[in-house]
Amino acid sequence: MSTTEDKITNQHTTWHEHTVTREEREALNNHKGAIVWFTGLSGAGKSTLANALEDRLNKMGKRTYVLDGDNVRKGLNKDLGFSDADRVENIRRIGEVSKLMLDAGIIVMTAFISPFRADRDIVRNLVGKGEFIEVYTEADLDICEQRDPKGLYKKARAGEIPEFTGISSPYEAPENPEITINTGDRDIPHCVDELVAYLTGSGVIQKTG
Ligand code: ADX
Repeated sequence: MSTTEDKITNQHTTWHEHTVTREEREALNNHKGAIVWFTGLSGAGKSTLANALEDRLNKMGKRTYVLDGDNVRKGLNKDLGFSDADRVENIRRIGEVSKLMLDAGIIVMTAFISPFRADRDIVRNLVGKGEFIEVYTEADLDICEQRDPKGLYKKARAGEIPEFTGISSPYEAPENPEITINTGDRDIPHCVDELVAYLTGSGVIQKTG
């Protein structure tokens, strides 16, 4: 949404450096900030996993937040639908919000279908190396359709929901995600173990504390 008018306005803004740095915020938190980006089909388990990971990290004393597609679309992004252009804008805004949360020193988990590889890569390139952790929440379309927790696949098949991901709108799976998790293979606590191990191994959080 960069209109000519936006660009002219932006010419007269200046980045303001804050006195408290991200490193100082992270030192208070006793862990680093990170973006754990869950992507996958509707019903693949993104929100469930993000929620379970946040619960575990919270109990470990880490500062966290979950940005979830269904919730964010009720507020910040309530002006957006599901056309390709609106999905691009949805992810652009979430990328920027996540970047701010990263600067706040928080471990932010995002649960959005985020169907387009290029848009996910834009977010990856907004932040530093290792700060964007892409988690491909893998599940076959027929499994998601069987689960159909919100009854949306049924409606999409009946033609009641246009441009539904996997049915009438594309999903581009990640080519090199940091982690791939198939929620059909293992129970949620084991999936969370794997995510926590990754965060520990990559130095976002420490083994103890
Ligand atoms: S994204 O494609 O723009 O990343 P997002 O994750 O925000 O999507 O929203 C997806 C959620 O919106 C789904 O979990 C589902 O509950 C709901 N939804 C409603 N209409 C659609 C649609 N046409 N395609 C996909 N999800 C939809």
